[in-house]
Amino acid sequence: MTSSALDAVSAERDPAAGLRFRAPLLGAQVGPRQHLSVERARLADLAWRHFEVRRVGATVGAVITGVDITAELPDDVIAELRKALLEYKVIFFRDQQLTAQRHVAFARRFGELEIHPFIPGNADMPELVRFEKSAEVGGYENGWHHDVTWRAVPSMGAVLHAVQVPSSGGDTLFCDMYAAFDGLTDELQQRLLGLDAVHDFMRVFGRQVPQDRRAEMRETYPTVVHPVVPTHPGTGRRYLYVNRFFTDRIVGLEPDESDDLLNTLFCQADVLEYQCRFQWEPDSVAFWDNRAVQHYASSDYWPELRIMERASIIGTRPQR
Ligand code: SIN
Repeated sequence: MTSSALDAVSAERDPAAGLRFRAPLLGAQVGPRQHLSVERARLADLAWRHFEVRRVGATVGAVITGVDITAELPDDVIAELRKALLEYKVIFFRDQQLTAQRHVAFARRFGELEIHPFIPGNADMPELVRFEKSAEVGGYENGWHHDVTWRAVPSMGAVLHAVQVPSSGGDTLFCDMYAAFDGLTDELQQRLLGLDAVHDFMRVFGRQVPQDRRAEMRETYPTVVHPVVPTHPGTGRRYLYVNRFFTDRIVGLEPDESDDLLNTLFCQADVLEYQCRFQWEPDSVAFWDNRAVQHYASSDYWPELRIMERASIIGTRPQR
C-alpha cells in the first residue's frame, strides 16, 4: 500500500469530531439531538411496583408486561398505569383479548369516553371508533396528528386495540411533542408561547359530510382556537400542539407567514429521534397521551385487512 493510501484509512479521529453539534448538510441538520439526554436518563431510572417496563424510543413509548387489562384492575394499578402513561407518553400491551365491552370498561377507568361524530363506531359500542381497512377502504391516517384537536375539549388519550392485523406493515408511529418543542431555538420557543392556532374538522372530515348537513355540523363543531404551546396538566411540561390534519392557521398572522410557520412546526413531528414505532400483533393495545404525542398509522399494507378499535378519553381544554 502506498503511504497516501495508508493515510486515507488511518484517520486518528472520527471525522465527526470536528463538526459542531447539529451541522447543516444539504438542508438537513445532522448530529446528536442533545436535548433528549435529560429525559432519556430520567426515564431510565424509573421503577414500577405493579408491572415491568421495556422502553421503546429514546423518550417515548414503553411496553408494559405483567398486567392483564382485560380484568377489573385495582385502583392502585390503574393509578400506576396513569403515571406510566404520563412518563412514557404511550404505553403498549401484548396479548390482551379485549372484548368491545372490556375495552370500553378499561378506557373508562381513565375518564369519560367521547363518541366520534364522523368515523363509524363498533355496532354494539358507539364509544369505540372502528378503523376497518381493506382493499376497498384505504388507510388515510398516515399523517402526523393529535386526535380531535378540532374539539373545544380534545381527548386526553386513546386506547387502540388491534382486532385484525395485516401479515406485515400497518405499524403505528408516535412522536414526542415535548421533545419537538424543546428542540426548537430559544427565540422560536419564545415567539410561539404567545400564539394561538385555529383547528377545524373540515380539513379532514369536510368532504364526507353531505352538503345538506354541513351548516348543522359547522354549528355543532365551530372552528376552535388552542394555544400553539399548551402546558400539560399532568406533567407541567410544554408541548407543541399543531398538526397537519386539523390545524388551519395561526391567529393574527398573514396567510403566507402562518403557512410558513406551521410548516416548520409540522415538520418537527418528522424528526425520527423524537419517535417510536409499534409493530402490531392481534390483541396488542396502544394507550397514548393525546397531548404529549402525535401519531401516524403507516398505510403500507393495502389491500390486506387491518381492523383496529379505539376508545378516546375526554380531556380538558388546552391551557397555556
Ligand atoms: C388513529 O389515527 O387513531 C388510528 C391509528 C391506527 O390505526 O394505527
